[in-house]
Amino acid sequence: MTNKTVLVTGGLGYIGTHICVELFEAGFKVIVVDNLSNSSIEALKRLKQLIKIDIPFYKIDIRDKDKLEIVFNENAIDSVIHFAGLKSVNASINNPIEYYNNNIMGAIILAHVMKKFDCKTFVFSSSATVYGNPNSLPIKEDFPLSVTNPYGRSKLIIEEILKDIFRSDSSWQIALLRYFNPVGAHKSGLIGEDSGDAPNNLMPFISQVAIGKRNKLRIFGGDYETHDGTGVRDYVHITDLAKGHIKALEALERKPQILIVNLGTGNGYSVLDMVKAFELASGCNIPFEIVDRREGDVAECYADPTLAKMKLHWKAKLGLNEMCKDTWNWQSKNPHGYS
Ligand code: NAD
Ligand code: WQD
Repeated sequence: MTNKTVLVTGGLGYIGTHICVELFEAGFKVIVVDNLSNSSIEALKRLKQLIKIDIPFYKIDIRDKDKLEIVFNENAIDSVIHFAGLKSVNASINNPIEYYNNNIMGAIILAHVMKKFDCKTFVFSSSATVYGNPNSLPIKEDFPLSVTNPYGRSKLIIEEILKDIFRSDSSWQIALLRYFNPVGAHKSGLIGEDSGDAPNNLMPFISQVAIGKRNKLRIFGGDYETHDGTGVRDYVHITDLAKGHIKALEALERKPQILIVNLGTGNGYSVLDMVKAFELASGCNIPFEIVDRREGDVAECYADPTLAKMKLHWKAKLGLNEMCKDTWNWQSKNPHGYS
């Protein structure tokens, strides 16, 4: 599987940077496309510091078909891992047109260009959000799909588009990877999640409290039917998640198919479990208050990771302590993210 060239769209974002490192370590040649709408060129410098070579980078919007074609003309691309997209649930509710335009148009134009250049290996960054409010747990890939916001709907629509592409031509090799809750950072502390001043997710909030940017964490809901009343999620270390993508590429190489796989650990941890684990790993105190539930939140969400083990030969290895330690390492070394 080495010597192949992978295009990573959105490759300077949180997940993309970590994938670039894993791809490089697995022997792939990596090309990055990003419009820097939610990332910084500093991430590219950090990548170079980490892997000691220059990654070819194109600052383009994937919806710019002509410029995307230049990337394919200049490089013999074997496969694409597609992260370029907007990811805030709240922003998507307030601005659905922007979300559908960016996420759905982006995916369509990318697939179009890939077809033109006969590049038919597509790994897509989907999300556990496509399961909506599951009827039972753990969540298996064949559970009914439903969404509650435009962000989630954009993921589900792209999944459907990719399924149609495969139905029309089964020589495509497609992976729909449904991530649970990615957290943590590369152990070097050089790359990580730069959520700026307005994080969307729990872990960046906790680390901003730890670093003193915020006084306390607001815990959304203490009255769920969970072991301590707070919401339960399946947090997965970003390095494990990144390795899952290499395994997906290998599985697609073994046989053209459409793979639909959960990437999660199978363990559910509550918000209070996360606070305690972070305090232990960082030595910081995390003050919190329990406030009303956040609209649209589900009580519990965790994966059945059996299919990933079977089809990808992948299993998450890193536990809660590593997730918290590595998040803290990144946050304390980079209190202002990449800026
Ligand atoms: P991110 O915002 O850090 O990375 C996305 C990158 O894509 C950014 O660098 C941004 O500048 C770039 N981008 C956005 N639109 C673009 C466009 N039109 N053209 C070129 N570049 C563009 O997000 P992330 O956390 O790394 O997530 C990556 C992908 O995984 C997203 O599609 C997201 O929806 C999906 N995902 C993320 C999570 C999560 O919790 N982080 C969970 C499930 C799925
Ligand atoms: C985790 C838990 C919150 C912040 C979201 C998207 C989903 C996916 C991952 C991309 C919940 C609680 C959070 C805070 C809190 N992204 N919380 N205080 O909601 O599982 O999923 O990110 O696909 O689409 O919806 O993740 O990190 O926001 O929340 O109490 O300040 O932490 O209520 O129980 P979530 P999250």
